[in-house]
Amino acid sequence: MTFTLSNCKPALTGVVSLLLASFNLNAQTIIPVETANNAMVLQVAKNKDLGIVYFGKKLNNQQEYIQIQSQYKQPEDYTNQLNSAYTSSGSRNLVEPAISVTHADGNNSLDLKYVSHDLKKISDDVSLLTVLMKDPVYNFEVTLYYKAYYKNDVVEQWSVISNHEKGTVTLQKFASANLHIQAKSFYLTQYHGDWAKEMQPEESKITHGIKTLDTKLGTRANLFQPSVFMVSLDKPATEDEGSVLYGGLEWSGNFRTDLELDPQDNLRIISGINNYASPYALKPGLALTTPAFWYTFSDHGKGDASRKLQSWARNYKILDGKGSRLTLLNNWESTYFDFNETKLAELLKDTKKLGVDLFLLDDGWFANKYPRNSDHTGLGDWEENKQKLPNGIASLVKEAQNNEVKFGIWVEPEMVSPKSELYEKHPDWVIKQPKREEYYYRNQLVLDLANPKVQDFVYSILDNLFTKNPSLAYIKWDCNAVIYNAYSAHLGKDQSHFYVEYVQGLYKVLERIRAKYPTVPMMLCSGGGGRVDYAALQYFTEFWPSDNTDPLERIFMQWEYSYFYPAITSSNHVTDWGRQPIKYRTDVAMMGKLGFDIVVSKLNSRDLQFCQDAIKTYNSIKPIIWQGDQYRLANPREGSIASVLYLDEAKSSGVMFNYLVNNRYDEKSRLPILLKGLDAGKKYTVKEINLYPDAKSRIDGSKTFTGDFLMKIGFNPDVNSNRTSVVLKIDEIK
Ligand code: GLA
Repeated sequence: MTFTLSNCKPALTGVVSLLLASFNLNAQTIIPVETANNAMVLQVAKNKDLGIVYFGKKLNNQQEYIQIQSQYKQPEDYTNQLNSAYTSSGSRNLVEPAISVTHADGNNSLDLKYVSHDLKKISDDVSLLTVLMKDPVYNFEVTLYYKAYYKNDVVEQWSVISNHEKGTVTLQKFASANLHIQAKSFYLTQYHGDWAKEMQPEESKITHGIKTLDTKLGTRANLFQPSVFMVSLDKPATEDEGSVLYGGLEWSGNFRTDLELDPQDNLRIISGINNYASPYALKPGLALTTPAFWYTFSDHGKGDASRKLQSWARNYKILDGKGSRLTLLNNWESTYFDFNETKLAELLKDTKKLGVDLFLLDDGWFANKYPRNSDHTGLGDWEENKQKLPNGIASLVKEAQNNEVKFGIWVEPEMVSPKSELYEKHPDWVIKQPKREEYYYRNQLVLDLANPKVQDFVYSILDNLFTKNPSLAYIKWDCNAVIYNAYSAHLGKDQSHFYVEYVQGLYKVLERIRAKYPTVPMMLCSGGGGRVDYAALQYFTEFWPSDNTDPLERIFMQWEYSYFYPAITSSNHVTDWGRQPIKYRTDVAMMGKLGFDIVVSKLNSRDLQFCQDAIKTYNSIKPIIWQGDQYRLANPREGSIASVLYLDEAKSSGVMFNYLVNNRYDEKSRLPILLKGLDAGKKYTVKEINLYPDAKSRIDGSKTFTGDFLMKIGFNPDVNSNRTSVVLKIDEIK
């Protein structure tokens, strides 16, 4: 059977020409969304339904996409809507919808039909496809957006929902994206957690019905579950093998992802803002833009998928993703709330002595009527505490300058303590039920960011700090409480937009901050990893994965985070958590953005010497860790050794971190660890670095190995109970 191409749209030039084009075969328009390796193919049926006819590796010949479905003899789809590209509800559809509405006349039906599509080339690498869909009965439209990042095989998908009816339409569900995937079976990797236990993975075979990943916490949304997940096709993917999709929502509030194994045994994925308690009233003439759902796909396993995603994140998503970062000394665990100018002056000297770039003053520096001497009081009163800091932040910034280090500060601007002047002055700014007892998370409440006055206030906290202290060089933005008793006095009788408007309000504040202070580094913290996603990371340079800094725990946690976020975003501090020696703790923290939160003056001279040397070593290798490709070599969940390699783009310099993660008798690296990503034809030396003072390496750094050898035979870092942490530098011999 031969197909002829008719009505083919003019081909685009360059990379994008392969990326997206549409063509019309037998009166069925085919719209492939292609990236370097993958394709998601939309098809407009004769009745103008828009379906997904293929998701997976792209074909050499686009015209063959039309033949794919004839090769599937799955049970009948009664409505031909199971593969809908954006499933509506209340008409023929029988499964989980992406969108569900109530029209002004009370009618619940919606049926979206293809109207037109358009393709824009944004750059050589990026293109944007829009597909306009319209209901034939109601004047209601949805435009689907597909932003394709060619090289990194990443697609962002969202919808713009427009009400052209005469009355208000209530959106009962309003997802960003709807995927449809065919495979023999599907395996979901999802994450759960709690404070200090972030990113615990679970993998399970997806069974029929719906699996929902969601959060209803409002703020600190990821505390129990982040939106990131993986789906392996046919069999669980490994690091180097198997087909795997990664996805996540760019939204820092309530999200919901439904994974439905449908009656045909195909997987439908629908992701967006959680519609929980949020029927959205869309007034006539208005449109709602949903947040982007990102996904990437690889048929070469999890490692390939995460390297592509990390590269995309650095290039397109994270604020200053290709830039530099500051090493720091934080005082949280060394002082908690108990400090004064004299103590801080000492810590500033220690910052210099240690050799890091910046001192970060944590919680406890503010509030006078209800001084912030514990986590019960003072949030909201952002004036310097006169007892602790009689000369204000300005004198500390100056003192930092005297010590030739930079100065950064902690804020938690979205929050308020019940004991605070802010609460007394503006009880209506606080999220709480008017007639119910207050209920606290970490003894505090959340401010109502749906209220523009609160947005102004939150903005002013940062703006004042910067205005008074222009050389303030770093912000740690914390967010410790979840939302209980969700109620906005500002929204009054109509609370249904509360959760959505909170997040929109937060982004408005962050937009304003970034408009005025575009580059100052900011850490996204939420009592640990309660809030990290690719919407927030557009305003932040890094995030705080967890308050749990026990290095053994961190090896596991950072491993899981690394599937989704590059090392440059991961703030890792050396603290007193855990029982491992300082070298082990520092090595683990080096696999990201290094910081310290220890009492430097209490370090013995050799530990101090080690830290000082380690920071110098780190400064020499950080470009590889931050910008290089990451290869997870030995999984701590599968054996006694964890091993991770960062390799520069030229494949000429790498850093390999190796740890003993099991302290049972005689555990060690028995077998060589296979390296990855090297150039087989190049020759390399492998030298141990970051040694403890006077320690002698057991590795002979003068030997040379081909990349071929290191990738086929491997290298043994000689990790054992006397050498629990070994860092190796790999360098090409030119
Ligand atoms: C949260 C953060 C910590 C610290 C404290 C301060 O728990 O995760 O790093 O900043 O708040 O109260």
